[in-house]
Amino acid sequence: MIRSRILSAGGYLPAEVVTNDELAARHGLDTSDAWIRERSGIRQRHFAAPGETASSMGAAAAREALTRAGIGAEEVDAIIVATSTPDSSFPATAVRIQAALGITRGFAFDLLAACTGFIYALAVADSLLRAGSARTALVIGTETYSRIMDWSDRSTCVLFGDGAGAVVLRAEEGEAGILSCHLHADGRYADILHVEGGPGSTGTAGLLRMAGPEVFKHAVNKLSAVVEEALSAHGLGPQDVSWLVPHQANLRIIRGMGRKLGLPEERVLVTVDRHANTSAASIPLAMAEAMAEGRFRPGDLLLMEAIGGGLTWGACLARW
Ligand code: UT7
Repeated sequence: MIRSRILSAGGYLPAEVVTNDELAARHGLDTSDAWIRERSGIRQRHFAAPGETASSMGAAAAREALTRAGIGAEEVDAIIVATSTPDSSFPATAVRIQAALGITRGFAFDLLAACTGFIYALAVADSLLRAGSARTALVIGTETYSRIMDWSDRSTCVLFGDGAGAVVLRAEEGEAGILSCHLHADGRYADILHVEGGPGSTGTAGLLRMAGPEVFKHAVNKLSAVVEEALSAHGLGPQDVSWLVPHQANLRIIRGMGRKLGLPEERVLVTVDRHANTSAASIPLAMAEAMAEGRFRPGDLLLMEAIGGGLTWGACLARW
């Protein structure tokens, strides 16, 4: 059977690291390091420098992923970028990355599913590879959320960071690779987590708004349901999961899911403490870190899950 095998992951984090105290002081926020840590698990975040964009960071993450896989850029024939903070409305951030990598063949496009973007992009890439439309794909999540923050809104601006992650997928015969992806959306909840306006409406890029506690409740219920859906599709149970690779929005949500699955804490990848919420970049960034540490072993079962603006949510199961 042909599967989309994950050959490697790479990441990029901008150099500037901002702690909770530094962020509060910088914007005169009525908050505290203790509140942010206790409610979200976040200690610090990285912020892109003025010249850095979703494409420059995405290209850096892609380069690391390709190097780690031992794959030349010329072998890539599909680039799918998940981002809600693209360099511009068009062309797609994906083609900017394609050019930065010196690739002149294949196809490249962006996809938007907010914090679920990487799961959606993985699902689309998997379908294209298994259909024979491409053989080697880069799937990239890259975000500059620092550019859509309302720095006067302490309930959201302390939660997000910038960064990029990428994986290399290749269509290969065998047991390793993506087993299935399970996608959901419910636009009735569009307004509980959204960006106000945009080039197609107000003519300006808007700011992020989130009804945090409401999103939190949806996250707990919908992530549990989609994880159950993914496992039962293969007759698998929580005991079969080697690694939980969750979207990194809130440590309480992540730990809650780990406990529900009965996984020991060291089997749950956590970066939210150091990266904050990097939206579509958070899952591939966590994978890149785990790969650099040599944590994944052949045969390991990875369970990825995310929820975000839309609402959108989903899960993917992959055999390493
Ligand atoms: O990535 C996409 C998916 N996103 C998520 O999954 C995020 C889901 N939501 C969350 O992670 C949490 O809801 C938050 C971290 C956003 C907030 O945590 P919470 O425990 O739900 O707090 P809350 O919003 O209910 O606020 C509790 C209190 C409020 O004060 P009162 O009304 O109890 O007096 C807030 O005004 O904390 C206050 N508060 C703050 N205090 C200090 C809100 N933000 C802050 C802050 N510093 N930064």
